[in-house]
Amino acid sequence: MEQLNAPQGQFNLNRFPVKPKDTLRAWDAADEYILKHLDNSLIATDGNILIMNDSFGALSTALAHAKPTMLSDSYLAEQGLKQNLEQNDITPGQVCFINSLQTPEKPLDLVLIKIPKSHAMLEEQLHRIRPFIRPSTIIIAGAMSKMIHTNTLRLFERIIGPTKTSLAVKKARLIFSDVEEMSLPENPYPLTLDLKGEQFTRNHYTLSNHANVFSRESMDIGSRFFLQTLQQENIASDEALSIIDLGCGNGVVGLIAAEHFPNAHLHFVDESYMAVDSARINFQRAFPEREACFTATDCLSGLEANSADLILNNPPFHQQNVVGDFIAQQMFRESKKVLKKGGALWVVGNRHLGYHTALKRLMGNCTLVAGNKKFVVLKAVKR
Ligand SMILES: C[S@@+](CC[C@H](N)C(=O)[O-])C[C@H]1O[C@@H](n2cnc3c(N)ncnc32)[C@H](O)[C@@H]1O
Repeated sequence: MEQLNAPQGQFNLNRFPVKPKDTLRAWDAADEYILKHLDNSLIATDGNILIMNDSFGALSTALAHAKPTMLSDSYLAEQGLKQNLEQNDITPGQVCFINSLQTPEKPLDLVLIKIPKSHAMLEEQLHRIRPFIRPSTIIIAGAMSKMIHTNTLRLFERIIGPTKTSLAVKKARLIFSDVEEMSLPENPYPLTLDLKGEQFTRNHYTLSNHANVFSRESMDIGSRFFLQTLQQENIASDEALSIIDLGCGNGVVGLIAAEHFPNAHLHFVDESYMAVDSARINFQRAFPEREACFTATDCLSGLEANSADLILNNPPFHQQNVVGDFIAQQMFRESKKVLKKGGALWVVGNRHLGYHTALKRLMGNCTLVAGNKKFVVLKAVKR
């Protein structure tokens, strides 16, 4: 556990989930800069405060005395907030959590925005909060300088008003936007993605993709290869009544699996609230008569052990700004628990990532089902 020293106090903070040898902190220099700025410029931390995209609740914990609302698309961020409030003896009710599909309840006095990785997400979020902003609302955004581009500032100018940046401190910068009455551009989200012409299905699906959904503008080439392989290998020759789309994004993998297995129950799981909601919209539109589950959680946390016949997974290679295969490894380990004996985990991944070795070590078997220059599709059975 590391200690954040801020003008508001000292706070013991962890990332979520806690990993024993994790050397990464639960906050960055931009969080420190925001907290320092709030103190120096004597901005009253009372009134209605909204904190957006706080990675693990560091800002919200430090400002909990002002009863802020934290808005995030991430289940991990929500859990991080709960954990960090608890370990600093702050009652959970001090910070209200709302997910990225919700809106604040009242006009806002102060908005603190950590710039998200995705430009589309920032655009959607500025549109989302715009109706709750008054001329007197103070808007401060922060990020590491490398995440602030000209088009980031333009977005603030287009949706909020005149915008300027601070000097860099420890490679972080702040953005200040003055609220201006203006005619607003339309919120383009969610986007529509047409699957017409895809070879892995004869049906004509139109997907609805929220702003933070993976590959929202076009079909991901790894997912396409995965779905073509499921079709060519006639995956439905194995019986599966309970199927999980793990890291579902817009749910396209589970949607096509539902075609192959007309009697199966599908469970769509992702840590992004927008992903889970897109999967829900897309599945219900394609199969209005079928029931399915849609869950925001960390990998397969909370799902019953020995319950699934088939898990389909296109693992992420980053969590927020940290790149690596650690989430894939966690997904594989948890899949082993949640699969029934004889159940199979199918994975698509970049050839160079070495998932084959990891799966073989974990499950004792792994078949290379298909491969091209870039991707492999692997199958491992729980014995
Ligand atoms: C490579 S995308 C695949 C999306 C979709 N299945 C597809 O093929 O288009 C990986 C997905 O994993 C999700 N993810 C990342 N970390 C996760 C976690 N800890 N638990 C559950 N899902 C996670 C991401 O939000 C993302 O939607």
